[in-house]
Amino acid sequence: MLPPPAMSAQYGHGHHESVLRSHSRRTAQNSCAYFSSSLKSNMHILDVGCGPGTITLDLAKLVPDGHVTGIEPPSADPSVLQTARNDAAKQGISNITYSVADVLALDFPDASFDVVHAHQVLQHLRDPVQALREMVRVTKPGGLVAARDLDNKTMIWFPESEGIERWHASYEPLARSNGTEPNAGRHLLSWALQAGVKREQIVASASSWCFSTPEDVVWWSSSWVERILSSRFAEVTLERGVLKQQDLDFMVQGWREWGAQPDAWFAVLHGEILCKV
Ligand SMILES: C[S@@+](CC[C@H](N)C(=O)[O-])C[C@H]1O[C@@H](n2cnc3c(N)ncnc32)[C@H](O)[C@@H]1O
Repeated sequence: MLPPPAMSAQYGHGHHESVLRSHSRRTAQNSCAYFSSSLKSNMHILDVGCGPGTITLDLAKLVPDGHVTGIEPPSADPSVLQTARNDAAKQGISNITYSVADVLALDFPDASFDVVHAHQVLQHLRDPVQALREMVRVTKPGGLVAARDLDNKTMIWFPESEGIERWHASYEPLARSNGTEPNAGRHLLSWALQAGVKREQIVASASSWCFSTPEDVVWWSSSWVERILSSRFAEVTLERGVLKQQDLDFMVQGWREWGAQPDAWFAVLHGEILCKV
């Protein structure tokens, strides 16, 4: 059995190459549209749980006279930030710093940043409200806290696939066994209120990811095949008894078959909050 959950959960998916590759498709354009028009060129941004840093890099390009700090927690594999640093250097982006920090206890003074952002992070924390309190604390008065998380229950796809259904159904018990909220998207507004942000300071919205072009479908299905076969998903679900090996094989087959269909289509809704501090 895995050890009992600590307050700062180890990131549930782990940082296997297959996981990082799937995060690397994320850009400011496909993931930050709800606040990117509020950015000014000289702003200082904190990108919490930046992962491989593709969104972080885009944010740095949007604030050429400002700065972006990307953080990953002490439990993360150091290669994640190293990859992010190498990518920034390759692209010649110098207004970016990556460092190790835990969003639940940030090592930054109050009012340090104009914008504090977390993409697909709060869903992986056991105490997302404390994370939001810390995000608000390090934001300057008049600054913005932005968070976006998917909502597992809102995933829909075509054609029907029993393998994908089994994969989908397995995520909720897995997240709950880790003490985290799989349907985080719908909780964001409530969590911000619990963190002490006033209702009139918050704009709550929703947006989707949709995989429908032949390239996106092949990428999305093959990234799940790889993640099921090689990432912490398999290890943890087997160890916790959430799944058996034959379930994993069935899911892989489901994703492969679905990814080969000319009419394959997949969508998921995300919740978003933009809080004016
Ligand atoms: C789903 S990934 C999102 C990565 C990136 N924001 C993106 O969307 O491409 C979640 C990230 O949050 C990080 N994370 C987990 N717990 C954290 C904590 N307590 N403080 C800061 N980051 C954390 C994980 O290490 C992981 O890289």
